[in-house]
Amino acid sequence: MEQATIILAIESSCDDTSAAVLRDGLLLSQVTASQKVHEEFGGVVPELASRAHQQNIVPVVDTALSRAGVRKEQLSAVAFTRGPGLLGSLLVGTSFAKGLALSLGIPLIDVNHLQGHIMAHFVEPAPSMVEAGMIRGLTRADLPLRHPSYPFLCLLVSGGNSQIVLVRSAADMQIIGQTIDDAAGEAFDKCAKVLGLPYPGGPWIDKLAREGDADKYPFAKPNIAGYDYSFSGLKTSFLYTLRDLLRAHGVETVDELAERVPNLREDLCASLQRTVIEVLMKKLRKAAKDLNINEVAVAGGVSANSALREAFADYGRRYHAAVYVPPFSFTTDNAAMIAQAAWEKYRRGEFCAIDEVPFAKTTI
Ligand code: KG4
Repeated sequence: MEQATIILAIESSCDDTSAAVLRDGLLLSQVTASQKVHEEFGGVVPELASRAHQQNIVPVVDTALSRAGVRKEQLSAVAFTRGPGLLGSLLVGTSFAKGLALSLGIPLIDVNHLQGHIMAHFVEPAPSMVEAGMIRGLTRADLPLRHPSYPFLCLLVSGGNSQIVLVRSAADMQIIGQTIDDAAGEAFDKCAKVLGLPYPGGPWIDKLAREGDADKYPFAKPNIAGYDYSFSGLKTSFLYTLRDLLRAHGVETVDELAERVPNLREDLCASLQRTVIEVLMKKLRKAAKDLNINEVAVAGGVSANSALREAFADYGRRYHAAVYVPPFSFTTDNAAMIAQAAWEKYRRGEFCAIDEVPFAKTTI
């Protein structure tokens, strides 16, 4: 009988330490330790992130292996996120993966974090994981999952990226549009910070927007050529709206303003969220139309946003397109997506030399 291919994948590009085990393309386990230490600073502190990865990586990997029922000696390869991300954070995962692969005498596979987000669409969780409630939002009836067919367009939206990627295959991805300044998630996080919401602000915007009026505050929409995005003007527009409201009510803080303006935060969040989503979907539609592609997917942390997920469903109905929204567990940074991308590379025989180093900035 042919031996199974078992891959251990490690993701440590930002503030989540995650490990996953994949056997012959089936996800057996995923364990993620999120770092709470950054909350009080209103953003990720790189030095603290790398220290927390150091503390988390051994227990996270051990738990992922034991939940998968796999011993280290059974592994066929070790995969890791090579970049883009915070260099200190990447170094922890990279060094750990190298050490483990060397000690076991097995190949090392480097994965581009952005390609990983896109490959999240091909992760197939083991039924036992789903039955154990380990994949948020999925039940046994959802299996096997629907996966996109090539070629498809993927809207990749995270804290650091907003891109439209033409995905011809797992090995052939081309960025056809991207933000020229801030990412969508960054715009959410920064506007949330101004409102005094905790970090990361994206999920708070999502939550408050449900109670808000999206027509209340019209914000400036960027007018950028082609399939590129820009969110810095929107951020400024948000800031000026708030500044004008503060002046008009003669108060200095958002808390004071919220006492005078009913539903202030909710309406601002709803209006901001609506604008960001309209901008994202408009360019995606333009690209899909121009390239005559009827399969569209969304990936990255912002794909957890409930209104963006609804916008995708609506896109599918309106344009008779096949749309793909990843399970919540594979939206923000996770090792399952790294394992999936590594499995594709393993089958292509693409391995990484032991002296390769991580990159803070890479593109697809
Ligand atoms: O992909 P990710 O985990 O990390 C990066 O590689 O950047 O994305 C994190 C981003 C943050 O900006 C966060 O605020 C945003 O995803 N995010 C959301 C939601 N959940 C996470 N944004 C809007 N709505 C959400 N529900």
